[in-house]
Amino acid sequence: MPLQDDDEICFCFHVSLRKVKSFCRIEKPRVASQISQCLSAGTGCGWCRPMLRKIHKQECNVAEPWWRQIDDAADTDYHSTERDADAAQLDADTYAGGRQTYLKETGARPPQTDGAS
Ligand code: FES
Repeated sequence: MPLQDDDEICFCFHVSLRKVKSFCRIEKPRVASQISQCLSAGTGCGWCRPMLRKIHKQECNVAEPWWRQIDDAADTDYHSTERDADAAQLDADTYAGGRQTYLKETGARPPQTDGAS
């Protein structure tokens, strides 16, 4: 089953697919990175950034200038089946499992949420 609106897209900040879609429809961010204004989505471990870019492309239908476009396939960032897929190709467990592997393999850390520094 594809990712559902109540499924989390950004685990670091508990941002659901519904929230990201709503943000895109209401705020119409010109570039995908502006989705970070939606509850800080994408500003933690970085796992969800390719998914946020895909959602932005689908929901906002904004043509980014060539110098702002990021080619996920050519990006030197971490790649996996789960990270490169779009929301219609993944279920929530597979997406979450991909993130666990990403954290292990890259050493990326979710933000501290307990106030410790
Ligand atoms: S899952 Fe979105 S920044 Fe970590």
